[in-house]
Amino acid sequence: MSESSSRIPGFYKLSIQERRHLLRLRADLTEDDLLALESGGLDTVAADRVVENVVGIYALPLGLGLNFRVNGRDVLVPMAVEEPSVIAAASNAARMARQGGGFEADADDPIMTAQVELLGIADLPRARARISAATDELLALVNAALPRLTERGGGPRGLDVRTSYHPARVIVHLHIDCRDAMGANMVNTAAETVAERLAVLTGGRSGLRILTNLCDRRLVRVRTRVPAAALATVDLDGAAVRDGIVAASRFAEDDPYRAATHNKGIMNGVDAVVMATGNDWRGVEAGAHAFAATTGRYRPLAVWRVSEGGDLLGRLEMPMPVGTVGGSVKAHAGARLAQRILGPTVTSAGELAMIIGSAGLASNLAALRALCTDGIQRGHMALHGRWIGETGVERAAPARLAALGAKNPSGNGPGQGGLT
Ligand code: MEV
Repeated sequence: MSESSSRIPGFYKLSIQERRHLLRLRADLTEDDLLALESGGLDTVAADRVVENVVGIYALPLGLGLNFRVNGRDVLVPMAVEEPSVIAAASNAARMARQGGGFEADADDPIMTAQVELLGIADLPRARARISAATDELLALVNAALPRLTERGGGPRGLDVRTSYHPARVIVHLHIDCRDAMGANMVNTAAETVAERLAVLTGGRSGLRILTNLCDRRLVRVRTRVPAAALATVDLDGAAVRDGIVAASRFAEDDPYRAATHNKGIMNGVDAVVMATGNDWRGVEAGAHAFAATTGRYRPLAVWRVSEGGDLLGRLEMPMPVGTVGGSVKAHAGARLAQRILGPTVTSAGELAMIIGSAGLASNLAALRALCTDGIQRGHMALHGRWIGETGVERAAPARLAALGAKNPSGNGPGQGGLT
């Protein structure tokens, strides 16, 4: 195992200090860097600058997703989440995926879209034609309003015009490359910048001017190939588990009620990394579910099939509006630390998106594997029991945890996966 490997067997058995020591070595951090881990990365002075009416800090546990290999590179994945077993599950699934090479991912350019609504227009076809004819002028206005973005190689990339008749409405979509920022502020600035000019061009008045969270030009795609043998449990062979996972995928493809829960399992991994890295999880959630419904029917964001050679193939596609610069990424020492944990190669928004998507696909794999074998409650309650024990309500004896497989790195572990 190299110093930079994301595979750290027995990590869960170490004390927090020992885990931090290993983290320091791998992520090239100093003791001072780790202070953010103790304080949560935010003090009340900083918090008071971030939001309003501050009276304190609300903390979440931060853990490491282990075993992740994304595009051939090992990465430790910071995850902030309150739900027991999410981190263990993602790590366990990443270990299975690793046996087939890990996750392969790609991301679109970081294009966000602003919407400008125009109302009170008498002649919709004429309005559409006038906007199209003024495209260069409108994009130049956006460029001038976002000079720093343009310097960084981003900026407007085009516009589309949509119309609807009842009521008569023109909606202009401005597509803007936000580089390494999530970009909400820039995109909203762009929308407000061009709105009055659009009103004049169309002879109408401007309505709403705001980004769309259905950022379907900013997708991430993740694929994994898991050898069937890697999926085996104590009771079931790998092929049976693989087929169970595919059947679970088909259930989600057929039934929106199941798809919602399937996608919730994906968001367990996605949101945890989005939170840890200081990104806007509400935006990611809104985009994910809107994208899942674009065909008119709510669909799973990830599906599973069997390859010709008998491996399990997973494929995820979803919007991923996240950034590595700007906003709370700057204000939050914990978010900055999370970025350093991800390593020097994860500097762009696209690379971060690929890691987040991989955490989502891993979480989905872990959940489906647990559901089609033991169910999730047995192990979930084992991990939950650790917490109850500490509160004195109920103590989960170590022997009971062991009996439930909570410390079984070989796989048939608790909750949505196992500790690794
Ligand atoms: C629980 O947080 C997530 C699951 O319900 C996901 C799923 O059902 O696929 C286990």
